[in-house]
Amino acid sequence: MSLPARVKLVDVGPRDGLQNEAQPISVQAKVALVEGLVAAGLTHIEVGAFVNPTWVPQMANSEQVMQKMARLASVSYRALVPNVQGYQRAKAVHASEVAVFTAASEAFNQKNINCSIDESFQRIESIFAAAQQDNVAVRGYVSCALGCPYSGDIDPASVLSVCQRLLDLGCYEVSVADTTGVGTVGSMQRLLDRLVPALGSEVIALHCHDTYGQALANIACGLQYGIATIDASVAGLGGCPYAPGSNGNVATEDVVYMLNGMGIQTGIDLATLIRVGEQISGVLQRPSRSRVALAFRSVK
Ligand code: HMG
Ligand code: MG
Repeated sequence: MSLPARVKLVDVGPRDGLQNEAQPISVQAKVALVEGLVAAGLTHIEVGAFVNPTWVPQMANSEQVMQKMARLASVSYRALVPNVQGYQRAKAVHASEVAVFTAASEAFNQKNINCSIDESFQRIESIFAAAQQDNVAVRGYVSCALGCPYSGDIDPASVLSVCQRLLDLGCYEVSVADTTGVGTVGSMQRLLDRLVPALGSEVIALHCHDTYGQALANIACGLQYGIATIDASVAGLGGCPYAPGSNGNVATEDVVYMLNGMGIQTGIDLATLIRVGEQISGVLQRPSRSRVALAFRSVK
């Protein structure tokens, strides 16, 4: 299959990136992050999560971020929601769309959302009932697609089954997540050999954490299957509090650099994006995890 001419990048930094931080991050800093990403050319941003704040305290100010940030009509400001309660919170602050999440692993779902895969689908069905009435688009996540921190290897058939259920409900795309970054080109190929013929590449997004340094290789592999939607996180922020080892999504800067080199359009200005990554890294008082940002700084 030929490579896509253009890739849609989804920056999940304000949500997946910041949800795992121990220190409080102000609404102002989060708003600056979202607005900076828009200035860099991102058109799809996961702004926050409307989950139980006791479970993920860092996302407790998601309402205020949604209310305070400036918006462009051309940008989708997405919210992650675990249940109808979360959906109603997201709707009240005019999230452009919502993302629902479940996993290909029973063990991970129990730790992350306190229910089985089947029970998560009951919650997701209720979200759909409301979202369809409101005409709100819904994306689906499938965690642990290449391995689970609690139960180990995951059968591609289980991933396919969960993806298919999400699409059947009406998700416009499924984001296939390597939650702890354990995947390699080998396991990614085995998974995509199963998913792409069954679902079509146009409904699949890839969401790679970079714990083992495999994310760019895995994304390059996905591009060869025609996948043209990639999740990433500016400065390589990230991690799921309920997935030990999930420390950092692939850095958006690094994905843009790779795609630029492949002649694939993204609409993103790399220099602006690097500045946005440096700004949030300054707030967090640690260096960016983007190799490209670090390289640009060292040759400046
Ligand atoms: P639960 O405790 O089983 O829920 O949590 P419950 O329905 O029994 O309710 C318990 C309490 O939570 C009640 O309050 C509810 O009102 C409240 P109380 O009566 O005790 O005062 N509650 C809520 N409050 C605010 N907003 C809500 C909400 N729902 C219930 N939406 C629940 C179940 C799913 C809520 C909980 O487990 C949860 O919030 N989990 C979220 C975990 C999470 O955010 N993980 C990180 C995101 S997923 C991820 O990072 C992976 C991803 O990036 C892809 C990848 O990389 O794999 C997407
Ligand atoms: Mg994630």
